[in-house]
Amino acid sequence: MKNYNFSEIDCIFKFNNCENLKDFDLPEFCFTGRSNVGKSSIINSLLNKKKIATTSNKPGHTKKIFFYKVTNSFVIADLPGYGFADMSKKKKEEVSELLFFYLTRRKHLKKIFVLVDSRRGLKLSDKSFIELLQKYNLSHQIVFTKFDKVAPNNEINLLKDIENSYVNMQEKVIFSSSKTKIGIKEIRKEIISTVNNEY
Ligand code: GTP
Ligand code: MG
Repeated sequence: MKNYNFSEIDCIFKFNNCENLKDFDLPEFCFTGRSNVGKSSIINSLLNKKKIATTSNKPGHTKKIFFYKVTNSFVIADLPGYGFADMSKKKKEEVSELLFFYLTRRKHLKKIFVLVDSRRGLKLSDKSFIELLQKYNLSHQIVFTKFDKVAPNNEINLLKDIENSYVNMQEKVIFSSSKTKIGIKEIRKEIISTVNNEY
């Protein structure tokens, strides 16, 4: 199986409207989830960088779509969050529209990573979001974030919640932390195996 160097970023692009979204003609992976779950932080960990993607403790920080083209082989997209965010109603509507457009129209989007804060578990907005992905038949994977913040036995409760909501979803779940780096290898593996299947 061919390996890829996640540290080798060829270029970064950012977009804030639907009309001019660039198409890279490469397998693409995006990171979604409620505001503040740790999407940008996970991308920094994946790409072995401290702050290539900017992060903040204020929900609603990422308002554009950021694309990272990695080793000329695939693209990682950092998306704005859904759910509570510190922004105006108008801005929220613009961001939701951009998000919906991106998720439903992207030709080379291979997998959507749905990040959920381990301390909070699945929220109603996550469930609605996952239902939307299922409705549009979009391949996705749940990743619990900030796992360094919860007691180890909390894993069982989080899995139970998934099991109650979605049949056969458990095997796909990844527990991660941008602080301790657990789960980062698993996310990379998932990306690599998908990319290798494409070539
Ligand atoms: P938006 O762009 O606002 O939607 O947020 P985001 O999902 O990109 O979250 P971001 O990566 O900006 O992180 C939000 C806050 O959570 C920051 O203060 C991070 O330092 C913190 N954080 C992110 N990941 C982890 C983690 O694994 N563990 C801990 N303890 N904190 C984390
Ligand atoms: Mg962000």
